[in-house]
Amino acid sequence: MTTDPLLDFLRLCSDQVCLLANSAEFANSAEFANSAELGAGASVFAGSLRDVCYLDRQVAENEVPVTSELARMNLSPLVSAARWAHMLLPWTSSHRMTDGGTQAALAPLNDLLDFDNHGVTVGLLLVGANCEYPLHQHAPQELYLTISGTALWRYGGAEDLVSVPPNRLVYNHPNDLHRVVAGADPVLALYLLW
Ligand SMILES: [Fe+2]
Repeated sequence: MTTDPLLDFLRLCSDQVCLLANSAEFANSAEFANSAELGAGASVFAGSLRDVCYLDRQVAENEVPVTSELARMNLSPLVSAARWAHMLLPWTSSHRMTDGGTQAALAPLNDLLDFDNHGVTVGLLLVGANCEYPLHQHAPQELYLTISGTALWRYGGAEDLVSVPPNRLVYNHPNDLHRVVAGADPVLALYLLW
């Protein structure tokens, strides 16, 4: 562990992604049909964290209204680490929404760390209770680690919404349409695009 709460949090996330991606318990389940891709994403993420550096840049905004939901989340090692790193995170409202950060927020970590040099995009998604992060798609494949909140996820090329609890991996192929609908609990997830 370092003495940097943000890097500590990211390394905990990476360890959990590796653990889940290589878990025999999930190897035969439908949600882990993309185990090769999940394994590749896990190793790309772990590799990037070995020598990721801070950019020489100030982040203008680090507080948006929905981040108050962090205090409502059930405590776990990752939620605790996220709370510890909270004030270092570059929270911002989403360009895909017009809610001003009252319903959802992103923490795009490529704004702070040189993940671009490692060919990855890393960040956090926070969705308030009973709110939704809208349907979208993008060319890079994507992996989510759910950290807190059971929510309905559309992912992986399917059209239906599937209930996903914390501590799971969700995979989107390039250009899969995906969205997240939070229930009674706010949702925190880490995303990785590569
Ligand atoms: Fe996405």
